[in-house]
Order: sequence, then C-alpha cells, then structure tokens
Amino acid sequence: MLSDKLLVVFLFLLLITACGNSASQHSAAALGAAEPDGMAIFRKYCIACHGADGKLGLNGAKDLTQTTLTLEERISLVTKGKNMMTPFGEILTQEEIRAVAAYTQTFK
Ligand code: HEC
Repeated sequence: MLSDKLLVVFLFLLLITACGNSASQHSAAALGAAEPDGMAIFRKYCIACHGADGKLGLNGAKDLTQTTLTLEERISLVTKGKNMMTPFGEILTQEEIRAVAAYTQTFK
C-alpha cells in the first residue's frame, strides 16, 4: 500500500532529523569540555599575591578562604581590579575570568 510506504519514509526522515539533533548536542558538549581551566589560570596570574591556597595575602591581597563575595562580585572585582590588585579585564577573556572566579570559590 502506498500510504504505508509513505509512513515508512516519513519515519525514516524523522529518525535522520533526530540523529542530526543529537549530533549537534554532542558537539556542544565537546565545546563545554574545552572551558578554561580556572585552576591553571589562578596558578598563572593570581598566585603571586594570593598564593596557591588563596591565603598568602601579599601586597595587601585578601585571604581568599575568608572572602564572602558572590561569584558575580568576584568576576567584577577580577575584571576591574581593586587598590593593589591588577585589573584582569584586558588580560583574560570573560570566560577565563568567570572560570578563575569560580575556582576561587573552592577555597575554604
Ligand atoms: C598584584 C597582586 C594581586 C594579584 C596578581 C591578584 N590579586 Fe586578587 N587581590 C589583591 C588585593 C590587594 C586584594 C584586596 C583588594 C582590596 O579590597 O583592597 C585582592 C582581592 C581579591 C579578591 C576579593 C577578596 C575580598 O574578599 O574582597 C578576589 C576574589 C581576588 N582578589 C581574586 C583574584 C584572582 C582570581 C586573581 C587572578 C586572576 C587575583 N586576585 C590576582 C591582589 C592581587
């Protein structure tokens, strides 16, 4: 019957579209895996004043294990700098600043 064949073709097309969607989801997940490494950025740019554990406090730096700032406040502070702290807005990308700010939240 013709209508049965049409249905099969329709289902087949549906399957292809579904596969196409899941493939693009996979590549999005792969992009997510390439997010900047907050720890690596911290070790490179922040350790000089804050130390590996965030407690060093050199050049008047605050102890990062004691800070009560939210993620958004940290991102803004790292971007703009404060007093003796370097503004990183020109040095790091938005994604890198977010990643390193999130990393500072792991200090307790
Ligand atoms: C040149 C030294 C220096 C470097 C490098 C530096 N900081 Fe700081 N940081 C400071 C100083 C000084 C303060 C205190 C600012 C103030 O409030 O007077 C501070 C404060 C902070 C605070 C806020 C703490 C609080 O409770 O107010 C955060 C978060 C922070 N730094 C994160 C970072 C991150 C992340 C990096 C690396 C991307 C970094 N810092 C690099 C000196 C530095």
